Amino acid sequence: MGAIEITGEASCERVGKGDRFLRRSAVAWYAAAAAGQMAFIWMILAHYGRKTLAGDLAGWNDKPLIKGFVAADDGGNAMFAVHVLLAGALTFAGLLQLIPIIRSRAPWVHRWSGRLFLIFSAFASLGGLWLTWGRQTYLSLVSAIAVSLDGILILLFAALAWRYALTRDYAAHRRWALRTFMVVNGVWFLRIGIMAWVLLSGGGVGMNRSLSGPADILLQFGAYLVPLAILEIYLLAQQSASAPAKYRAGALLILAAALTLVGTVGAIAFMWGPYML
Ligand code: HEM
Repeated sequence: MGAIEITGEASCERVGKGDRFLRRSAVAWYAAAAAGQMAFIWMILAHYGRKTLAGDLAGWNDKPLIKGFVAADDGGNAMFAVHVLLAGALTFAGLLQLIPIIRSRAPWVHRWSGRLFLIFSAFASLGGLWLTWGRQTYLSLVSAIAVSLDGILILLFAALAWRYALTRDYAAHRRWALRTFMVVNGVWFLRIGIMAWVLLSGGGVGMNRSLSGPADILLQFGAYLVPLAILEIYLLAQQSASAPAKYRAGALLILAAALTLVGTVGAIAFMWGPYML
């Protein structure tokens, strides 16, 4: 009996340490992602924000784009401007949602930035779907399908996160809000995923200019399916009473944090940097 109690205490202590490791790993991933997302927001404000405020819409195209400013397409240009500027605001609102001290000390900030995050995300998805299919902005059919599936998941998950907040089922709300965060950031994950792959594979093995190479296809669907899978592993590990499960999930988050950092450094150096100044 005594031995069982001692074993029980020892295993409780291991689970406690596992929980701490998992929590710290999640914070490490958040810190890496926040740095990368702030760089993305910076680029959006410095490039699209500045050009739009100066009335230089044609200047959007100084950055490589599929179809940004098009002369005499006022509707399409307006949709593009709204899409990109919403993108900056919603990325920032999403980051705020994950900071625990804001949820506990200023719940009204959490509620308001949460509403804005979900509404802006829904509008950015609908606008993105229109840009893709209505304005025909895509490089290959497979890339249009990959980003459209992301757009549909954003609409679905955001509706579920909102619904569970209204019914005050906060456990379900948290799960769906975190899933929404992952799919909303799918487009950001894609950019840093591409840069991480270019750096790690020494130039982008399996990629081509129409985003239809094997690596492109994996990256475009993986940009939201892999973060969603990692999130599910994290949520299961949080619930689990098994210390090894918590350590394994924590190690996975550390790996994700390292890849996020590599991708962020690559994106700043080669994709966003020239437009951030
Ligand atoms: C909700 C999260 C989203 C964010 C944060 C976001 C962000 C952006 C940004 C920053 C751009 C400007 C291009 C650049 O400089 O990188 C852009 C363009 C674009 N987005 Fe989104 N987007 C989101 C969702 C979507 C969705 C769901 C779709 C499609 C279903 C979509 C389709 C497009 C298209 C077609 C363009 C124009 C690309 C080009 O001309 O090169 N976006 N988006």
